[in-house]
Amino acid sequence: MKTELTRRLKIEYPVLQAPMAGGPTTPDLVAAVSNAGGLGSLGAGYLTPEQIRNAIREIKGKTDRPFAVNLFVPEQPSTPDHTIAEMNGYLNKYRLDMGIALNPSIPKFAESFDEQAQVVLEENVSVFSFTFGIPPKNIIQSMNQKGIVIVGTATTVVEAIALEAAGVDAVVAQGSEAGGHRGSFLASSADTMIGTMALVPQIVDHVSVPVIASGGIMDGRGLVASLALGASAIQMGTAFLASMESGAHKAHKQKILSSNEDATQVTTIYSGKAARGILTGFMKDMSNYEGTIPDYPIQNALTRDIRQAASHVSNPEYMSLWAGQGLRLAQDHAAAEIVKQTVEQAELLIKSIGHLGERS
Ligand SMILES: Cc1cc2nc3c(=O)[nH]c(=O)nc-3n(C[C@H](O)[C@H](O)[C@H](O)COP(=O)(O)O)c2cc1C
Repeated sequence: MKTELTRRLKIEYPVLQAPMAGGPTTPDLVAAVSNAGGLGSLGAGYLTPEQIRNAIREIKGKTDRPFAVNLFVPEQPSTPDHTIAEMNGYLNKYRLDMGIALNPSIPKFAESFDEQAQVVLEENVSVFSFTFGIPPKNIIQSMNQKGIVIVGTATTVVEAIALEAAGVDAVVAQGSEAGGHRGSFLASSADTMIGTMALVPQIVDHVSVPVIASGGIMDGRGLVASLALGASAIQMGTAFLASMESGAHKAHKQKILSSNEDATQVTTIYSGKAARGILTGFMKDMSNYEGTIPDYPIQNALTRDIRQAASHVSNPEYMSLWAGQGLRLAQDHAAAEIVKQTVEQAELLIKSIGHLGERS
């Protein structure tokens, strides 16, 4: 189970818990995965700099092993004001339905990436990962100088090559099965829906940095398959979403544990950016919207009050239920158990390699 990346990251097993912004990756989850020999990751994209600092310190209080902090590379949305106003007006019907204030004022659409990254630098985190693009050169250089391992996200070979040229130490190859937001940044998500099985070996052939397979990987079988495709590690999100330490909403966890492989769709309706989640009433209803959906992160900010109100009353139909296509394999075990099971199953499989293809 030792790979180029386990050595570089100073971890025991090539198993990364995916960063999952919006609550699932609690300090308890991150620390539990790192303590179990994998690499926990804090999804910090939506957190204020102060919240990031506090979370990092909390994780450090629970583990002395390496872990990652993940941020969203900012984009320049180009949505005209009237499109935003139109959407905000349309969303009022859901606000009415839920008894919350209409036309909320939104002071800012997203946190400052520079300030967030500054905290990652100051707090001496071992690994910095990111998605949605490539951070400015000065940030990559500062991370590098501090010895922080830098991990970027690609959904195509061209994106992986661009990340390597920008100086990352490893690339996450995010296949189209993946739950949550697509990391695509050089072409539209709709044009880059490449499955993990096809994506990983093609990226491996075109970059020299280690590749981390991600998307639809749920257990030791996915780990062995990924290593066989040339990956140096796996990054699993959905597999940890319903774990005991995950901060995902109870209704989200229940949906994960009771849904099948055909339950998800890719939608831009919640945030303005393509993301895979379990089909909800909100997704169905908003598919009738005839206007233009504002770009990320504007749409994300516009729907926030509706998603939060739905969380308060445990109504999954208005929540974003991000999940990948491996749903049926999700379990509600402790995170350490998920790491252990994955590694043990992979080790057994590797031992019985001569019998692969036969069902046990
Ligand atoms: C609930 C959820 C939130 C996510 N948030 C992030 C994030 O903040 N940053 C990131 O790089 N990837 C994020 N992802 C994508 C994961 O990094 C990873 O690509 C994905 O979970 C892999 O697919 P799987 O869910 O089938 O394991 C998220 C995924 C999920 C399910």
